[in-house]
Amino acid sequence: MGFTTISCQLLLAAATVSATWIVPGARWRDTKGGLVNAHAGGITIDEDTGKFFWFGEYKIEGQVEGGGVSVYSSDDLVTWEPHGLALEPIEGHPYIDTTHIIQRPKVAYSEGTGKYHMWWHADNSTYGWLLQGFAESDNITGPYSFVDAIKPLGNWSQDFGMFTDYKDGRTYSLYSNGDRREGRDVYLTSFNENITALDKVVHRFEKYDLEAPTIIQTDKSYFALMSHKTGYRPNNVVAFRADKLSGPWSQPFIVSPLNTRSFNSQSGFSLRINGTKKTTYLYLGDQWDSISLWESRYIWLPIEIDEDKKSLEVQWHDVYDLDVKTGEVTPINGTTYYSKNATTSGDAYHQEATFGSDSVILTGINGNDSTVTFNNIAGTGKPQWVSFYYQNTDDMGFGDQPGGTPDRIGGTWQLRRISSVVVNNKTEEMETLYQRDTHKGIILSTPLMLHLENGTHNSITIGGLYNNQTYKGADVDRIVVFPPEE
Ligand SMILES: *[C@@H]1O[C@H](CO)[C@@H](O)[C@H](O)[C@H]1NC(C)=O
Ligand SMILES: *[C@@H]1O[C@H](CO)[C@@H](O)[C@H](O)[C@H]1NC(C)=O
Ligand SMILES: *[C@@H]1O[C@H](CO)[C@@H](O)[C@H](O)[C@H]1NC(C)=O
Ligand SMILES: *[C@@H]1O[C@H](CO)[C@@H](O)[C@H](O)[C@H]1NC(C)=O
Ligand SMILES: *[C@@H]1O[C@H](CO)[C@@H](O)[C@H](O)[C@H]1NC(C)=O
Ligand SMILES: *[C@@H]1O[C@H](CO)[C@@H](O)[C@H](O)[C@H]1NC(C)=O
Ligand SMILES: *[C@@H]1O[C@H](CO)[C@@H](O)[C@H](O)[C@H]1NC(C)=O
Ligand SMILES: *[C@@H]1O[C@H](CO)[C@@H](O)[C@H](O)[C@H]1NC(C)=O
Ligand SMILES: *[C@@H]1O[C@H](CO)[C@@H](O)[C@H](O)[C@H]1NC(C)=O
Ligand SMILES: *[C@@H]1O[C@H](CO)[C@@H](O)[C@H](O)[C@H]1NC(C)=O
Ligand SMILES: *[C@@H]1O[C@H](CO)[C@@H](O)[C@H](O)[C@H]1NC(C)=O
Repeated sequence: MGFTTISCQLLLAAATVSATWIVPGARWRDTKGGLVNAHAGGITIDEDTGKFFWFGEYKIEGQVEGGGVSVYSSDDLVTWEPHGLALEPIEGHPYIDTTHIIQRPKVAYSEGTGKYHMWWHADNSTYGWLLQGFAESDNITGPYSFVDAIKPLGNWSQDFGMFTDYKDGRTYSLYSNGDRREGRDVYLTSFNENITALDKVVHRFEKYDLEAPTIIQTDKSYFALMSHKTGYRPNNVVAFRADKLSGPWSQPFIVSPLNTRSFNSQSGFSLRINGTKKTTYLYLGDQWDSISLWESRYIWLPIEIDEDKKSLEVQWHDVYDLDVKTGEVTPINGTTYYSKNATTSGDAYHQEATFGSDSVILTGINGNDSTVTFNNIAGTGKPQWVSFYYQNTDDMGFGDQPGGTPDRIGGTWQLRRISSVVVNNKTEEMETLYQRDTHKGIILSTPLMLHLENGTHNSITIGGLYNNQTYKGADVDRIVVFPPEE
């Protein structure tokens, strides 16, 4: 029995080492099969082992706040081992009760105390406190014990970020000071050397009214990324650049193609990977799902920085390989199947669309009887990623349906539709495809892992599933089928 356990572990290790593809917006599973549950978090690299530790907000179905802070570890940023809760909420505790806000946690090692220090946005459920929470542990995975919740240098603190300068090891607190008229700034404030309290304000991004801050450091520059304030709806994330943390800082500029709303994500953290061949910068964004927060996903993408142009761009890839040792990013190529060749049923049809491939897009997808089918798809018999490129125009509203017309006064914005995806008519193996609002004329993608048969005879049928107000699916432009990971 002991032997069996060991060989299983070895096999698992061998099987997971090769799994290094990052698939933004997919359902990410941990090594025990659970959804990776670490929202709006941060990653701490253990200097001794090079291991990555991911801390984030833990949310179960139906839960909005008070889930505590979860922690996962990984050697490759893809295979995540869960270590449970690093900071557990405590019933009746004045600051970390299950009804309280424990948001955007980050962890840094304090040389002075020899402990790991966790900081986060600590608040009551109505955002009335605007504090920074502090907990510590001897072990990186915890358990962390609560130390204090403070007003940073007397001010308010909402969305929280943390940054450590690799040149001098100093750690900084980044925080928006809330939505009140007197607030609407983002502060960059140094921690004291032990990371036990705040020291002094280094810069204030004054009255830009931004949130979800993170800083990326290159050899020559600092880039501060932040989002606008649109709740769980994504917007166009901006960056500022400076030679020194104290500034002067540049004007903010948009970091991704306009109106993709940062590929449907919000900033929050970033990672610098000092590889043997290349230094790679990663944008670690959150793709919030306001209808079911616990199903929110992660958009992690490489960042292209041009020091001469003083520019920074977040680059989309459906699927890419990241070698954390060399720092190299290799986009994976797939085979594209266009909507022009797809067949339709019921009310679904090809509609003229200047922004679509071949100037058409598939629309009218609704329920089971108005579907579209891509035919003659080549498969391998092994699980493969398939990306679905769509336009979701919910910011046009649903006519007389409730929940529509967000571009009108008093309108609301439904963040996603859900489509069914059926391979080779096997309805019993139906997959659910979440399609976020993409803005008019903007085509984005969401990946699913599908089982296609070996050969070129596969079909993929897309229908509409219930989404609290409609059975409509988003408009489909094309699908891309990727090779199996091996
Ligand atoms: C840092 O923490 C250690 C351990 O508690 C303490 O001895 C030291 O005085 C602290 N350093 C500063 C600068 O506060
Ligand atoms: C949160 O704190 C503020 C400020 O103390 C208070 O006004 C508000 O009532 C609190 N909210 C709840 C739900 O207790
Ligand atoms: C820290 O981790 C080690 C090894 O996992 C464990 O033996 C120890 O009990 C942990 N310490 C605390 C305070 O949890
Ligand atoms: C926080 O800072 C703003 C300016 O950035 C200031 O107007 C406000 O009074 C400060 N709030 C507190 C509680 O100190
Ligand atoms: C990057 O890694 C190399 C070793 O691969 C090391 O020599 C160098 O100091 C590191 N640079 C920084 C800035 O961390
Ligand atoms: C993907 O296609 C591009 C362009 O044809 C090519 O340069 C690249 O090497 C391909 N990547 C892989 C991983 O095959
Ligand atoms: C599918 O569509 C593409 C682009 O419109 C076209 O080049 C290709 O020939 C079509 N394939 C088939 C099998 O119809
Ligand atoms: C779609 O088909 C399933 C299974 O046949 C059925 O349960 C469901 O009610 C249908 N939905 C609609 C909107 O027709
Ligand atoms: C479903 O829609 C109704 C009305 O649009 C709304 O009040 C309700 O909160 C929605 N439910 C969920 C789970 O979003
Ligand atoms: C799926 O069902 C359709 C309609 O019933 C049929 O035309 C098609 O051949 C079927 N495809 C497969 C792969 O069985
Ligand atoms: C897939 O089909 C090809 C051609 O028919 C065959 O050569 C290959 O061995 C098959 N692969 C698998 C995994 O069955």
